[in-house]
Amino acid sequence: MSQAHLSTLWKKGTDFLGSKHAILGGAMSWVSERNLVAAISNAGGFGVIAASSMPPHLLEAEIEATKKLTKHQFGVNLITMHPQLEELADVCIRQKVSHVVLAGGLPKASIIAKLKEGGAKVVGFAPAVSLAKKLVKDGVDALVIEGHEAGGHIGPVSTSVLAQEILPFAAENMPHVPVFVAGGIGRGEAIAAYLEMGAAGVQLGTRFVCAHESIAHANFKRSFIKASARDAEPSVQIDPEFPVIPVRAIANKASKEFAAVQVEVINQFRKGELQKLEAQLKIEHYWAGALRRAVIDGDVETGSLMAGQSVGMVTKEQSTQEIIDELVAQAEHFLAHRAAKPQAKRA
Ligand SMILES: Cc1cc2nc3c(=O)[nH]c(=O)nc-3n(C[C@H](O)[C@H](O)[C@H](O)COP(=O)(O)O)c2cc1C
Repeated sequence: MSQAHLSTLWKKGTDFLGSKHAILGGAMSWVSERNLVAAISNAGGFGVIAASSMPPHLLEAEIEATKKLTKHQFGVNLITMHPQLEELADVCIRQKVSHVVLAGGLPKASIIAKLKEGGAKVVGFAPAVSLAKKLVKDGVDALVIEGHEAGGHIGPVSTSVLAQEILPFAAENMPHVPVFVAGGIGRGEAIAAYLEMGAAGVQLGTRFVCAHESIAHANFKRSFIKASARDAEPSVQIDPEFPVIPVRAIANKASKEFAAVQVEVINQFRKGELQKLEAQLKIEHYWAGALRRAVIDGDVETGSLMAGQSVGMVTKEQSTQEIIDELVAQAEHFLAHRAAKPQAKRA
């Protein structure tokens, strides 16, 4: 019965994605490439390639390689500020990618229209009700609401608050739009709870990093397995005059030194030794290439260990199929357990 209950709860999500389960594998730069993406789609979820800073020809090769590993649908995540966004969109259209997720800032209505005219379904990130309304007005087909607990670039508001603000609003005002909840989800009980609040599905990133099929370096995976929730910290900004894009990552040597580097650079600016732009660029460049260094090269000291608070629930390497089956079983158990309670009382 709980199996049927779960299928009903996330039907809007599974219909939209064309997958067995409404579980999106959140795109993770360097991690979400052909192997993990295909494994997630093969396991009944919905994998998404992280195009990140890839040039168009590399994205095209990645899509073609992923198609060889799965007969199921998968998506592509494009970063809106990529200088070749139009060409990347052309690649997705040419390759008939079924779903494109637009991340990293509010997408222009024109890029949404282009992708849709090209046959793709478009997903956008809504960090507030006002932006959910704008994205839907501009034509997105589905929304992701991603809270502060998530790994990678983060907004200021927690997943639970976003869910309370946006899910009831969406149910009332845009019932045709599936909303996927992301950030801090590590177990199936949370999935079931967000579905009951009106979500169409969920998006998880951190939980998939230690999948056998993930190409992340063994050192990167080990850091995840060792870390607890409190180790996944947002990056620190020393001075609002020198903004730092907030990123959640496991604390390491690099993240600890980042504050000191900012202090030093800002002092140099105050003393007139650096121009403002030079100082800002020095701060921004601190993390250049850091995620690749950690994920691919295994440098977990000077690299960036982007991870969400759900990292505390990553306790071992597992196959992608096991991870998804575990999440689904937990969600079903949660629903069945609650359904059984009133009966137990009556007995
Ligand atoms: C290592 C890492 C890299 C990420 N890279 C991207 C990215 O390139 N584009 C994007 O939209 N989100 C990115 N994310 C966010 C994920 O897609 C996903 O929304 C997030 O991990 C969900 O929260 P969780 O980590 O608590 O599951 C990244 C997350 C991690 C942990």
